[in-house]
Amino acid sequence: MKPIKLLLILVGLSAAFITKAQNLSIIPEPYQMTKGSGNYTLPKTIAINAPSSANAISDLMAGKLRTTTGRVVYFTKNKPSIDLQVVNDANLGSEGYSLDINEKGIQIKANGNAGLFYGWQTVMQLLPAAIYTNALQVNTNWTLPYVSIIDKPRFGWRGMMLDVSRHFFSKADVMTFIDDMARYKFNRFHWHLTDDQGWRIEIKALPRLTTVGAWRPERKGKWANITAPANDEPKTYGGFYTQEDIKEVVAYAKSKFIEVIPEIDIPGHSLAFNTAYPNMSTMPNYPFQVNAGNEFMDWDGLNGHVTAQFDNSLDPSNEEVYNNLDKIFTEVAALFPFEYIHTGGDENAKNNWEKSANVQALMKKEGLKNQNEVQSYFVRRVQKIVNNKGKKLMGWDEILEGGLSGDAAVMSWRGVKGGIEAAKQNHKVVMSPNDYNYTDFYQGEITAEGKVYRGLRMKTTYSYEPIPEGIDPSLVLGNQANLWSEQIFDMRYAQYMTWPRGMAVAETSWSPKEKKDWKRFTNKVEKHFEKLDAAGVRYAKSIYDPIVTTQQNTKGELMGMMEGEIEGLDIYYTLNDQMPDNYSSKYTAPFLIPEDVFSLRVISYRDGKPIGKYLNIPMESLKKRATKVL
Ligand code: ACM
Repeated sequence: MKPIKLLLILVGLSAAFITKAQNLSIIPEPYQMTKGSGNYTLPKTIAINAPSSANAISDLMAGKLRTTTGRVVYFTKNKPSIDLQVVNDANLGSEGYSLDINEKGIQIKANGNAGLFYGWQTVMQLLPAAIYTNALQVNTNWTLPYVSIIDKPRFGWRGMMLDVSRHFFSKADVMTFIDDMARYKFNRFHWHLTDDQGWRIEIKALPRLTTVGAWRPERKGKWANITAPANDEPKTYGGFYTQEDIKEVVAYAKSKFIEVIPEIDIPGHSLAFNTAYPNMSTMPNYPFQVNAGNEFMDWDGLNGHVTAQFDNSLDPSNEEVYNNLDKIFTEVAALFPFEYIHTGGDENAKNNWEKSANVQALMKKEGLKNQNEVQSYFVRRVQKIVNNKGKKLMGWDEILEGGLSGDAAVMSWRGVKGGIEAAKQNHKVVMSPNDYNYTDFYQGEITAEGKVYRGLRMKTTYSYEPIPEGIDPSLVLGNQANLWSEQIFDMRYAQYMTWPRGMAVAETSWSPKEKKDWKRFTNKVEKHFEKLDAAGVRYAKSIYDPIVTTQQNTKGELMGMMEGEIEGLDIYYTLNDQMPDNYSSKYTAPFLIPEDVFSLRVISYRDGKPIGKYLNIPMESLKKRATKVL
């Protein structure tokens, strides 16, 4: 054997060994990690040492350990089992930490409390899953593997957005969402507070925004196939956050090192605003109703073409609109300490602006050539207001259309092109492309999930690289997942849609690019299912459901294909409408689906046991998904 070949084999073997040795299930994957040999067991009496500046973190740890392990926990500088140190280490940055677990116990070092907090999240992940329960666990062996970790995030913006307009989520729900984010080291909570379906933030100067704008009739059913509200119908569904609620949520998020970005979505998506104050629209006499999920727009939002049957936009030619926005942003700026306020800007239907004599007069006066320039004029006016409150404006990528100025930042949602364009114009960007990071999209087989717009497998989410080619990477603030709630009625389902895809977004946002590894990641995700079970968090198990596709072959026949999202699944199916098991046909290659088949039924097994959902895919759906072979 040639020496070079031998060397390659040896390198391969040692790489395999290291990978195996380092198979600790930490999500997101740390920057650098060396596993030792041995385990540390929490003593019967746990001593914590921490500087007084880290009291908040050491109290958090002590509380958790007392509740769940039942151990006595006390504070001392003398031979601590858990030693927290604030250091001055430029390499760790403001959020990084080092963690050592050895025979002496657990040592976490960081430049400040954020790093200590993240170090503690990692320790929690290394402990048995039972640590996530809030009840005493007497039969757990509280051991952790020896390990040495240096960890810090790739991006300073690791975000999740929650839409609380389409469905309302209580303050407690929002805090649950924040708890779930913190476990995976997210640090930006984008709160989508206003939309056509409800205005959710108390504005003292404009009380009708919440007395009227927060309420609509209750509906069940599929979004866009819902009966429109009648004028005299009781408006029983909705809710809003008082300013005291908002302060509580902001403080709660801060205690978990999460900054809150409020979104006031204007000028479009403003039907709740216009229902409260109809003279803010170009149709002041229209009998607006807060939308209940009934269709009132023609959507082609991704391509920027949307029209509305009535004006759900603010009138850009009305000075009273800017006066009211000044009042709103005065109160919003006082409630949210974060440097950015998100002012939306997406999917603004301009067809009613076009018809307005006042808007036409504005165009003439300001020399605006088209409706994009009118929107750009509106954004500039809003930017001035927001800047006057000491804040910077952020908006969806539509705010680029017609020109964008100053220190406005762009959140790229229609794929990545808005982010690229914004960065080329020297604006900061947050990447939240719908084709990778939209957690409202169904995540498994369409016929088994609630259908919303389109599907998005976790594998695709995980494959996302947030820094596009050809731009200055320092302009990319980070990465974000967006959870729109049209079809999400409660927090349990919000969790189902968010997890485990949120873990994929977390790893992309935190871990070095070269540390990403789909196979290792999915192994870790399965371990984290146990942690989420212990924490009482709902999650989807769609990774066990095969990806079923069809194709028409050259003879025009329908062929079925199946593939596991993760490795190691055995996929069984029937074409005779019988429930399949592991004695049914095992998928090995594309198979013919004869014309008379009623449905394809599928189940995946692993190690001889069923693991996926039963899928029952009607012929109509199989035909619809067929791609043609020419
Ligand atoms: C969006 O998804 N309309 C920002």
